[in-house]
Amino acid sequence: MRHNGIILAIDGPTASGKSTTAREVAKRLSYIHINTGAMYRAFALYASEWGVTSPDDPLVGELSEKAYIDFDEGGNILLEGRDVSKDIQAPAIAQLASELATLPIVREKMVAMQQEIGKNGGVVLDGRDIGTVVFPDAELKIFLIANAKTRAERRRAELASNGTNLPLEELTREIEERDRRDAEREHSPLKKASDAVELDTSKLTFEQQVEKVVNLAKKVTG
Ligand code: DC
Repeated sequence: MRHNGIILAIDGPTASGKSTTAREVAKRLSYIHINTGAMYRAFALYASEWGVTSPDDPLVGELSEKAYIDFDEGGNILLEGRDVSKDIQAPAIAQLASELATLPIVREKMVAMQQEIGKNGGVVLDGRDIGTVVFPDAELKIFLIANAKTRAERRRAELASNGTNLPLEELTREIEERDRRDAEREHSPLKKASDAVELDTSKLTFEQQVEKVVNLAKKVTG
């Protein structure tokens, strides 16, 4: 075991419930939660503020060196010190994040930050490549899946709670497009680690999925 506890890696496709599950599991274990998707989104927001609209923009490399991304004590994502949790929910930022996340220069920077924050354990990280690339030696790896319709419905409810209403068909299309890009990209594609526990959350309530992950974690920590 590491200094502060285990590393719990939760990977899975877009809107599979990773972040909400990871946040609640971290709370119940008194662990830190690192939402790595929020880091890629915060970087996309930063890049968009510099006028970047595509991964081909030569400015991206320089910006990945400059961007200062962090979390506050409440787990909110900070970009240059300001809380951008709401701004990064915009679908356009999610798309740009998925595109910029295909670039090794961006991934290297994010992965190094994640390894630094998580190395002492006592942490739940959620993302796409936590169990395969960021912490291949994580003590517990979970791979969350859910069918596309369930995921689109969850994303619609999440956006609606922030005051954005989008049709289900548009969200399903967006989710399928991101799934494709995340799984087909050359560098660190979304992939289940061979030693990950797969959990299909399509038919589970939130409480059930949280309990399953907490119980698995308790088995590891003893
Ligand atoms: O989990 P999310 O939808 O907030 O992530 C936004 C994008 O960031 C996603 O489309 C792919 C990318 N991402 C990644 O490549 N690696 C991670 N560990 C987390 C997210």
